[in-house]
Amino acid sequence: MTGTGLASAAFAATIELARSRHLNVWEPWLPAEVVPPGASLLRLLHLGVEVPAGAVDPAQAELIVQLGLGRRESDRLVAASWAVTAFRGVLAAGHREYGSGTGDIHIGEDSLRFASAVLAAAPRGRVLDIGCGSGLASMAAARTAHQVHGLDVLPAAVEAFRISAALNSGVADCRAEVGDFLDLDRGDGYDAVVANLPGVPVPDGVPYPTAGDGGPDGLRLIRALWRWYATMSTADSLVMRFQCPGGPRTPIAVTELAGLMPPGCDILVVTDSAVPMLVRNAITAARASTLDGQRDAEEITEELQRRCAERGWTHYHCSTLRIRRNGSGIRAHVPAPDLIDARQSYRGTGRSLPVEELALKVGAELRRMPDEFWSVAGLSAIQDASAHLERIYYDLGQGATERQIASSLSDAGKPLDQAAAVLAVSAITRAMVRMSLLIPVVGVNAPAAEGRSGMRSA
Ligand SMILES: C[S@@+](CC[C@H](N)C(=O)[O-])C[C@H]1O[C@@H](n2cnc3c(N)ncnc32)[C@H](O)[C@@H]1O
Repeated sequence: MTGTGLASAAFAATIELARSRHLNVWEPWLPAEVVPPGASLLRLLHLGVEVPAGAVDPAQAELIVQLGLGRRESDRLVAASWAVTAFRGVLAAGHREYGSGTGDIHIGEDSLRFASAVLAAAPRGRVLDIGCGSGLASMAAARTAHQVHGLDVLPAAVEAFRISAALNSGVADCRAEVGDFLDLDRGDGYDAVVANLPGVPVPDGVPYPTAGDGGPDGLRLIRALWRWYATMSTADSLVMRFQCPGGPRTPIAVTELAGLMPPGCDILVVTDSAVPMLVRNAITAARASTLDGQRDAEEITEELQRRCAERGWTHYHCSTLRIRRNGSGIRAHVPAPDLIDARQSYRGTGRSLPVEELALKVGAELRRMPDEFWSVAGLSAIQDASAHLERIYYDLGQGATERQIASSLSDAGKPLDQAAAVLAVSAITRAMVRMSLLIPVVGVNAPAAEGRSGMRSA
């Protein structure tokens, strides 16, 4: 690292190296076993392990202390509550203990996917990052923009943004302020807006952290932002990450979005994952139950599942959105590439099970798994299920649904276990289908037809 910032190619490259050794290609927080030995800065700032002060360049050590990323204790450097990660050369700071009640600023898989979309869009001129959180996407925008302005309701986000900007010194003019985007007027002449707002469907009365709470259908803030962009903002482009419920192929927001935007806009929605609502609801309930104090995760999951069933929501979609204001009126939605439908049933082909080849194919499926798979410890569910591959193959071949298999492998009283089993069985089944061991039964338990979205399927 050189100069006054920690915008270190070495730090970022070491993180990328560690990530390439990890199964989850969108993992912001890499475990010690994939971090190369001797990477002292990474051990301190990323893993939170104290290191000998002598192992770090004195100028860097001073900057670390100055930025509040660590402190000196005699001859050691000790990590602080901020942790640093990097993605494609962009550095950012988030709270190490997010979710434990002591930290609000989260960098998750979704943040990396959003930063990737911002890097691809390469916004120019003045950029506004709404709900900037750690500032990772702002710093990504700063690669091509000359000015980036972050806005977030959380004061801690402004602190994180300040650290992230210092880590990426030498990039555009970056500043952040505390504020609610609902108070924005015409948008101050920004050329581009980027936003990753909370999108977890959380009904009234269920407690949830601000960084994730998207209101009853997940779209409370996202919808408000779209209205603002359509009617008030003059920015040429909008890049967003958004999540919401829907049917198996189409998020509910897609139809609404097409109706909200002026006719000449180009709108492209790319959905990268659609998981059964049970998976999202189990994760939501686990987090909510730690804040609720009265109800446990199972009870909250039941309530969330009931609401989804009443509304016909079967899947939770995570998508990237790109809008160009003065386009040709092109509107397209690319649905999630892998349909994870626990109601699906199959017909067996009667071939014997090549267990070793199947294990390799399941391994290959891991790179395609949605972010939720890693949140619910799906890997250990796959390991558990691997002991029963013959039985799973037999039962699926006899017409059992993926959901029935998942239920037989998990504890009914533990929603997160059930969610993990659903995703694990889905990965195993998909590998079996790719190997032509199973044939999906079309028509029986098939997903209900969805209404027209008003967008062309790309
Ligand atoms: C899902 S996090 C995304 C953070 C960051 N952009 C990222 O991609 O990692 C959503 C952020 O929006 C912020 N937020 C929520 N409501 C907001 C509002 N009304 N105005 C501005 N920011 C808001 C939250 O505090 C949180 O930092």
